[in-house]
Amino acid sequence: MFCFFSLQGYGQSDNPHGEELKMDCAACHTAQSWEIPASFWTTKAEEGQTPRFDHNDTRFNLEGQHAFTDCRFCHETLVFSEANSECISCHTDMHEMTVGTDCARCHTEEHWLVDDVYSIHLENGFPLLGAHATASCDECHVSASDLQFPRIGNDCFTCHQEDYVSTTTPDHVSAGYSIQCLDCHEVNAYDWSASNIIHDFFPLIQGHDIADCNACHTTGDFTVPVPTDCVSCHLDDFNNTTEPDHQALGFSNDCAACHTLAVDWMPAQFLDHDALYFPIYSGNHAGAWQNCNECHTTPNNYSLFSCTDCHEHNDLNQLADDHNDVPNYSPASTACYACHPDGAE
Ligand code: HEC
Ligand code: HEC
Ligand code: HEC
Ligand code: HEC
Ligand code: HEC
Ligand code: HEC
Ligand code: HEC
Ligand code: HEC
Ligand code: HEC
Ligand code: HEC
Ligand code: HEC
Ligand code: HEC
Ligand code: HEC
Repeated sequence: MFCFFSLQGYGQSDNPHGEELKMDCAACHTAQSWEIPASFWTTKAEEGQTPRFDHNDTRFNLEGQHAFTDCRFCHETLVFSEANSECISCHTDMHEMTVGTDCARCHTEEHWLVDDVYSIHLENGFPLLGAHATASCDECHVSASDLQFPRIGNDCFTCHQEDYVSTTTPDHVSAGYSIQCLDCHEVNAYDWSASNIIHDFFPLIQGHDIADCNACHTTGDFTVPVPTDCVSCHLDDFNNTTEPDHQALGFSNDCAACHTLAVDWMPAQFLDHDALYFPIYSGNHAGAWQNCNECHTTPNNYSLFSCTDCHEHNDLNQLADDHNDVPNYSPASTACYACHPDGAE
């Protein structure tokens, strides 16, 4: 009891912690001595005892190794607020200003090892993938052993200029290939080979998802220009068509006007069908069919068609009923088409 009062009676002028500290002295001191044994901070306050100071109530949490660090190591003066909370104010920058002052970007208070080197690189826009993941730090960061990581830049050419210049198959320099390696080489590649080539300038997808580069680069030399227009490579396919016979119908050579790269050339569009014959992409029949042969039921003869395969299935009697008042009604498809050339009432 007595000790407690004497502590409270201690005047502010005798307070070595500065005017600002408005805390109860007993939160940290006991009556025994102003000196505070280390055990004071580690033993938990038992029930009924004065609550002990919790550093996490200040502006600075004691995480990781800091929780076991002596107050005096951080608080050189007893005016606690004078401590600076920037990591670099207490820790030597081992990196000699090569990575900036924000240590917490890469480190925690647990230890100085960097657990997540991958993320550091990802944040720099240079994910360590493929051959880069297995390369050692100092192959790229020449002064890594001195913990110095000055900027080297992400540009492939910076590090691979020699590789580029000494290429032979194909000779990149004489071919005039871009020095943006990523135009053609994958960032996650383990080597420079064809299996890791990006081909976005002419996407190798769907029907063009072909492993054999020579199917198109027939000379085997990538520097020999290859045509990009469909018909240059697909003239035979065009000439051999039967369903429908493209030549007989006078279809243009511009495959892409009707085709995508979808395998088997299906589905294909024939937009002129609406204006030339019968609306199938507009009007009542837009979306009403899947395949041409739902109307053109006779393979290879597009002059034949059936309307009743669909409309009969609805209800033949109903159809007849609907035409009760229509003179000359006939259930033949050619008759349907003659009276409904636009597929509308
Ligand atoms: C947040 C905890 C905390 C509070 C609250 C606190 N002190 Fe301290 N005080 C310390 C620490 C830590 C030391 C250093 C003890 C050591 O080194 O063993 C210290 C040391 C002292 C010393 C010895 C100074 C020296 O030079 O060795 C005095 C005197 C003292 N405090 C007075 C006070 C008074 C008076 C109050 C209340 C107004 C107070 N303290 C409140 C933590 C605190
Ligand atoms: C790892 C370093 C570190 C350790 C260890 C540490 N502190 Fe701090 N402490 C700080 C920092 C940094 C601040 C924030 C200073 C600020 O911005 O006001 C702070 C703030 C404080 C404050 C609040 C000051 C105010 O006016 O708001 C008190 C009180 C304090 N510390 C007491 C202690 C005591 C007592 C111990 C030992 C149990 C201790 N500290 C251990 C770094 C530390
Ligand atoms: C107010 C001073 C202070 C601040 C601010 C501070 N530290 Fe500390 N830190 C210390 C002291 C003192 C130690 C214990 C002595 C030592 O190991 O250097 C320590 C220990 C450490 C340790 C353990 C080192 C080991 O070898 O086990 C790590 C890691 C650490 N601090 C990281 C950080 C990081 C990261 C920050 C910023 C988020 C930071 N510190 C901010 C003072 C500080
Ligand atoms: C961009 C990330 C990055 C930043 C920012 C950074 N470091 Fe490091 N630090 C590293 C790497 C990487 C290592 C090597 C450790 C490893 O390989 O795990 C390292 C190692 C360390 C080591 C251990 C050195 C040794 O001898 O083992 C210390 C100490 C250290 N850093 C302090 C700091 C301090 C202090 C700051 C802030 C000024 C800081 N670091 C900022 C990435 C960083
Ligand atoms: C294949 C090359 C390569 C390898 C291997 C590599 N790095 Fe990097 N590193 C880079 C590039 C590129 C950057 C980001 C661009 C820059 O520094 O300008 C970078 C950035 C860094 C940075 C700085 C990040 C920053 O934000 O300041 C650190 C630290 C770093 N690397 C550490 C390492 C460590 C540690 C290893 C080994 C575990 C490693 N690197 C392996 C290429 C590499
Ligand atoms: C900071 C330097 C650096 C940068 C930037 C860099 N690399 Fe690398 N790269 C290396 C190192 C080191 C190796 C492993 C050693 C070697 O094979 O040359 C490597 C290996 C490779 C390999 C495997 C080569 C082989 O045959 O083993 C490829 C492919 C590659 N890098 C592509 C790229 C691409 C694409 C970029 C641009 C996104 C790039 N690199 C940016 C340093 C770099
Ligand atoms: C226009 C596309 C393209 C660009 C851009 C490109 N390459 Fe290539 N590269 C290729 C092709 C295709 C191959 C051959 C792949 C195969 O068949 O194995 C190749 C192969 C290579 C080879 C191995 C061939 C040899 O003769 O050694 C290296 C090394 C290489 N490229 C480096 C680079 C570098 C470095 C860059 C950027 C500075 C780059 N390439 C940019 C398309 C490209
Ligand atoms: C389906 C056909 C096709 C296949 C398969 C194909 N390419 Fe190509 N490739 C082309 C066409 C078309 C061009 C011309 C693009 C242009 O000029 O815009 C071309 C261009 C290129 C170029 C030259 C780019 C330039 O800037 O000069 C390279 C290099 C290349 N292809 C590499 C490959 C590799 C490697 C493969 C196998 C992985 C491959 N190609 C598979 C059709 C193909
Ligand atoms: C440089 C040559 C080349 C060019 C240009 C080209 N192709 Fe191809 N295409 C091929 C090769 C090779 C194949 C695979 C062999 C085959 O099926 O003929 C193929 C396959 C296809 C297939 C798959 C055929 C099937 O049977 O599954 C379609 C669809 C196709 N191409 C459409 C097109 C279209 C549309 C264009 C124009 C935008 C085009 N191609 C341009 C070479 C080319
Ligand atoms: C006016 C539109 C149009 C044009 C232009 C066109 N096609 Fe077609 N093509 C079609 C339609 C419609 C089909 C049938 C799709 C279906 O049955 O669903 C088709 C089917 C095909 C078929 C498969 C049928 C068969 O008989 O083998 C091939 C192959 C084909 N086209 C190749 C080509 C080629 C190559 C070109 C360019 C040189 C081309 N087409 C241009 C509309 C067109
Ligand atoms: C909903 C019914 C319907 C669908 C679906 C349809 N057609 Fe037709 N098509 C017609 C009708 C009706 C005519 C006009 C017949 C006439 O003039 O003798 C016609 C005419 C044609 C002709 C002209 C035949 C000739 O010899 O004059 C061709 C070619 C043709 N269609 C191709 C197609 C292709 C290819 C598809 C699929 C992409 C298709 N049609 C889908 C109803 C359809
Ligand atoms: C693939 C199935 C199919 C074929 C084949 C088909 N139709 Fe249709 N037709 C429909 C569907 C679905 C509708 C819209 C729903 C409805 O009104 O029954 C429709 C609507 C109509 C309508 C308008 C009905 C209204 O209430 O306004 C007429 C008229 C019509 N078709 C005539 C024809 C003629 C003529 C042919 C042959 C050239 C034909 N259809 C072939 C499926 C088909
Ligand atoms: C001689 C001309 C003629 C013939 C042939 C004909 N229709 Fe019609 N159709 C009409 C007329 C006119 C109407 C409008 C009747 C009404 O509103 O009372 C009609 C209405 C329809 C309707 C709309 C019914 C409703 O109530 O919504 C459909 C669907 C239809 N016809 C389909 C067909 C089909 C399929 C055939 C062939 C089996 C066919 N028509 C043959 C003239 C004809």
